[in-house]
Amino acid sequence: MSCVVNARGLRFRYEDGTEALRGVDLHLHKGESVALLGPNRSGKTTFLLHLNGILRGDGDLRVCDLPVTAPHLTTIRRKVGFLFQDPEDQLFRPTLLEDVAFGPLQAGLPRPEAEERARRVLCQVGIGDGWDRPPYHLSGGEKQRVALAGILAVQPEVLILDEPTTHLDPPARRTLLDLLLTLPQAKLVVTHDTAFARALCPRAVFFESGRIAADGPIAQIIDRFAWEI
Ligand SMILES: Nc1ncnc2c1ncn2[C@@H]1O[C@H](COP(=O)(O)OP(=O)(O)OP(=O)(O)O)[C@@H](O)[C@H]1O
Ligand SMILES: [Mg+2]
Repeated sequence: MSCVVNARGLRFRYEDGTEALRGVDLHLHKGESVALLGPNRSGKTTFLLHLNGILRGDGDLRVCDLPVTAPHLTTIRRKVGFLFQDPEDQLFRPTLLEDVAFGPLQAGLPRPEAEERARRVLCQVGIGDGWDRPPYHLSGGEKQRVALAGILAVQPEVLILDEPTTHLDPPARRTLLDLLLTLPQAKLVVTHDTAFARALCPRAVFFESGRIAADGPIAQIIDRFAWEI
């Protein structure tokens, strides 16, 4: 089976000396959804930040069959859709439509097609109107959806979601879950929300002190580490 993420012995130390990754091995197959669970500071976000080359550690890391090295970063960043924990970081254009059309425009799509695609993905995430509003007028949950629309608009091969339910109330979590379940992409989902993780991901890995301490069916991982997630 082809691997969309293949990490072997990945190690990373921040400039202040913090050893955040101490040999991470992880394989994510095409179409697979895997939850990254683990306590605060265990290295989950640090690991994700390696997947599009924001951070560079030692060891082997391939994403969509490409090594994560300078010559491949532009291609990899197009293939990896990254939803950050705080959607504020991701919305920066004057209107929702502009924001979501930005990625396709950057990728070279003509404006009418980019906007058409933006309207389509905005509908897909449940925002069917008000596209000329500025993103800073939105609620946290709406911002999350617009940020996700911006990612889907560039048609990535893998989705990386870092605590995607943080700003969402239970109905909005359900809506996000239903949407994610319809998406064919492979997904890596960092979350402390075990109900959400269980519903989305058949498999989980458990991070502990910069390493993956367990990898297996999600029910087993959650039962084993219930008080540490
Ligand atoms: N920019 C940074 N500089 C120095 N150390 C950092 C930096 N970012 C994170 N760390 C440290 O690296 C370790 C791993 O942090 P990371 O953010 O990857 O954890 P996490 O598992 O995502 O935690 P959380 O569940 O709280 O989001 C922690 O000890 C953290 O303090
Ligand atoms: Mg984190």
